[in-house]
Amino acid sequence: VYHTPEEAPADQVPDCAIAIDVLRATTTIAAAFQAGAEAVQVFSDLDRLIQVSEQWPADRRIRAGERGGERVDGFDLGNSPLDHSRDRTQGRRLFMSTTNGTRCLERIQQAPLVMTAALTTRQATVKALLSKQPETVWLVGSGWEGSYSLEDTVCAGAIVHSLIDQTGLSFKELAGNDAAIASVSLFLQWQGQLLELMRHATHGQRLLKQHQLADLEYCAQLDVSDMVPVQREPGVLSV
Ligand code: MLT
Repeated sequence: VYHTPEEAPADQVPDCAIAIDVLRATTTIAAAFQAGAEAVQVFSDLDRLIQVSEQWPADRRIRAGERGGERVDGFDLGNSPLDHSRDRTQGRRLFMSTTNGTRCLERIQQAPLVMTAALTTRQATVKALLSKQPETVWLVGSGWEGSYSLEDTVCAGAIVHSLIDQTGLSFKELAGNDAAIASVSLFLQWQGQLLELMRHATHGQRLLKQHQLADLEYCAQLDVSDMVPVQREPGVLSV
């Protein structure tokens, strides 16, 4: 487990890397696929997003841009999972740029298997890991502009905890780092109060100030979606 993309060792590539941005990018990516998105293409740079998405038919694209929790001017959507419905999203490609989540994905995109995970997709992610059986797995929190975030770490802990539960392996056999053990402790303490934890989290508080309580409520749910977005070419995810 790495709390932020910056913590992940720059000179190593794992068999599988999983980006986590519970509030809200990876929760929103799963919600977009749940609503029938054809693919999600991520960008750290907004101008590049506009340039690439120009080449896509207007009725088959959605441009989603978020900075500081707010929708970027001129974009169709911000970064709320609640924006995605069959009517709006089915059959369309989501061109997406967010403050931290899309940067995290860019950082890990060299791994042979790249996935995204959220609390909403915890069990589906574990199932995918158990079926693909990669030897080394990184769970990488997006954090906030380089620093640790509670909600990403608790999600990593939920995944590690479920892996231990389902395989019967010990921490030692799983060979997780210190952050993996700490993340499981965080999950065990807060598993019954995930929404409460989000209210304490710095980014949760930022979203509450922007009147986004419904987003926190959605993102705090465990196992409500079986979507496991996988990178099929650099920066492009599908299910
Ligand atoms: C991010 O990528 O930093 C987040 O998803 C921000 C947000 O809540 O929109």
